[in-house]
Amino acid sequence: MADEIRSFKVNTGARIPSVGLGTWKAAPGVVGESIVAAVKAGYRHIDCAQRYGNEKEIGVTLRKLFEDGFVKREDLWVTSKLWCSDHAPEDVPLALNRTLNDLQLDYVDLYLMHWPVSMKKGSVGFEPENLTKVDVPSTWRAMESLYHTGKTRAIGVSNFSCKKLSDLLDIARIPPAVNQVECHPSWQQDRLHELCRIRGVHLSGYSPLGSSGSATVETGLLNNPIVSMVAEKLGKTPAQVALRWGLQMGHSVLPKSTNEKRIKENFDVFDWTIPQDLGSKFSEIHQVRLVQGTSFVHETFGSYKTLEELWDGEV
Ligand code: A2P
Repeated sequence: MADEIRSFKVNTGARIPSVGLGTWKAAPGVVGESIVAAVKAGYRHIDCAQRYGNEKEIGVTLRKLFEDGFVKREDLWVTSKLWCSDHAPEDVPLALNRTLNDLQLDYVDLYLMHWPVSMKKGSVGFEPENLTKVDVPSTWRAMESLYHTGKTRAIGVSNFSCKKLSDLLDIARIPPAVNQVECHPSWQQDRLHELCRIRGVHLSGYSPLGSSGSATVETGLLNNPIVSMVAEKLGKTPAQVALRWGLQMGHSVLPKSTNEKRIKENFDVFDWTIPQDLGSKFSEIHQVRLVQGTSFVHETFGSYKTLEELWDGEV
């Protein structure tokens, strides 16, 4: 099992490395160093997004890593994401071009629609007036065209509920390869996991350590009594147990860290397993969604009046 779990096959036939470095909230000035540390530690998957505001620095770093021979382009999986203000079909290829320029790449391995939410072209902030009506099918057609250009090797979505993913699968000519969503032992996504399994969509888990980006992980998942108990029994850290749980569920995991020691720790999740008797304890963990997407919900503007509507009841 240990080797199989180092990567997972997606519906294009490619294999996605199962542990990717998350770069959300990795500040400019440190994100580059964290990527160097990750690649040296063995990571072959970097999760980026135009919205994170650090793709230029990541591009400079990747170019240097390729030039210095630390890793070859073809051995690295790079994901990026289309932001909500670029959903108009004519803007989709321009947004990918911008990302490719910033990342200094000819192609990305995976390009995701970041949210099932649209915002005014050129808008930057999260003011409610920037929200517009989302039209997933028309944006998806533009994503499909990108796939044919070869500038992305796979296309997918992020933050899609079961219903939104099913609706998309009903109209897609090219089905999404990946749905990247919040997923960790405190938000296990059982229904979505099952849907993805049946429909051949790979589930990739962001915030796999239970961080919402602003909440401190120390007070949450990594201090959960069940996760801590399992960690203690196996002689691992709670973070490693949370990540290993995701891998054993068949999800890729995208832990963010800018600390070299923790970057290494988060990759030391192979060659050991959580045995079934301990794994079954995870079903007792209280479930709570951390990344709510409250900025995307408004009485008047946009497509969703409530969180219930954004997540189709999965709240
Ligand atoms: P840092 O970058 O200083 O390591 P998530 O991937 O769930 O969003 O979690 C990211 C948060 O978890 C960041 O604050 C990161 O801080 C912290 N973190 C990353 N790896 C570990 C670890 N192994 N143990 C504890 N905290 C970690």
